[in-house]
Amino acid sequence: MVSPDGLVRLSGIAVEAGRATLAHYREGIAVDQKQDRSPVTAADRAAHAVIVRALAEWEPAIPVISEEGEIPAFEVRRSWRRFWLVDPLDGTKEFIQRNGEFTVNIALIEDGAPVLGVIYAPALDLLYYAGLGLGSWRRESGGEPVRITSRPPLPQHGLRVAESRSHPSKELEQFLATLTVAERVPAGSSLKFCWVAEGKADIYPRLGPTMEWDVAAGDCIFRNSGVGRPRRSELLYNQPELRNQGFVIGLADRDLDTASGEGRVVWFTGLSGSGKSTIARRVVEALENRGGAVEYLDGDAIRDVFPATGFTRPERDAHIRRVGWVASRLERHGVTVVASLVSPYEESRSFVRGLCRNFIEVFVSTPFEVCAARDVKGLYAKAKAGEIKHFTGLDDPYEPPSAPELTIDTTHLPVDDAVRRVLRYLEERSA
Ligand code: ADX
Repeated sequence: MVSPDGLVRLSGIAVEAGRATLAHYREGIAVDQKQDRSPVTAADRAAHAVIVRALAEWEPAIPVISEEGEIPAFEVRRSWRRFWLVDPLDGTKEFIQRNGEFTVNIALIEDGAPVLGVIYAPALDLLYYAGLGLGSWRRESGGEPVRITSRPPLPQHGLRVAESRSHPSKELEQFLATLTVAERVPAGSSLKFCWVAEGKADIYPRLGPTMEWDVAAGDCIFRNSGVGRPRRSELLYNQPELRNQGFVIGLADRDLDTASGEGRVVWFTGLSGSGKSTIARRVVEALENRGGAVEYLDGDAIRDVFPATGFTRPERDAHIRRVGWVASRLERHGVTVVASLVSPYEESRSFVRGLCRNFIEVFVSTPFEVCAARDVKGLYAKAKAGEIKHFTGLDDPYEPPSAPELTIDTTHLPVDDAVRRVLRYLEERSA
């Protein structure tokens, strides 16, 4: 789905939905009907119907959350790994004021971050779309798609600020007073994200709460407009209320680091074959999708680079301490470190905890019998045959953590669920 073809298909759906709203737009809305929501809701509903039908035809298994649809309870959707997030018509004021800056917004959310996004302004026949790793694009009426890019603002330069055309807000004025503002660029609805993504504006501050469907597509277009790497955004998805508090799109990454706090060390411990590295790698992928600085430290991979590491207690101890020290250094620079090592001794894990400021121990507690039966790498068979010595769980101890932040037994738990548990824990912790 996250492919050039997927983007073309999604864009087609947004354009079709946009055309459905245009019929209502062109009918004309007389000034004395300004308070009357009915023409707008009719346009909303028309776009919603087109989108929901087309997405179901494409991939019926992926659920849709739309501003115009029924919103499933958090208990139902909290386990969703992928879903569509749709605002069929954003910019009611723009629709009524007839300045053309209302938009259709569709995004695909995966592991809490937007991986596909399309915004279409039907009255302007202006299309923006983006996909994770596929860049961000603009297509104007009748034209060819053009790649759009943006860069974080340089320090000491005046900022061009995208702002809403609707009422001025005291909070925004107070915030802007803290910056050097070169220009204020008004734009309607979700187009403000696109203005930043194509470099017409540097930042887009939005200081009140916003529903997730209002921002998801725009956020995707912004994130993928980065040159060489994605831009970072602080927006979160599939939260209990489907709502983000205030945000500023387009800040320099280091400002975001200060805003979102320090780094952290997520340390997976457990027997060989317990599922640590599988879960850890997926957590890394999800965190990278969100645009943060992430480093993955894997016991096996590090041992490949330093083959003489060994498995006696003092050797393992030295290995864990070294890796833990590196993790703590990275953490100081705002990196999220995900480490996956058997790390069987409580003492060496406590040593690492002591080095780190924000240490999250994830105990993958899958029992020995299950790991031995899986024997993914064939090591349990070799150890039982006496070909490998000091094998953890067999002729070498594993000391379970006394107070891990999370315990995950993968005996019956699918990887997806395990990954979600970790991500949810991290979100709640940093909230
Ligand atoms: S640790 O105990 O020092 O933390 P680390 O995570 O780096 O171990 O490496 C463990 C990996 O090495 C296991 O996943 C397994 O593939 C392999 N291995 C080889 N010999 C042993 C052994 N004696 N005990 C545990 N793992 C071993």
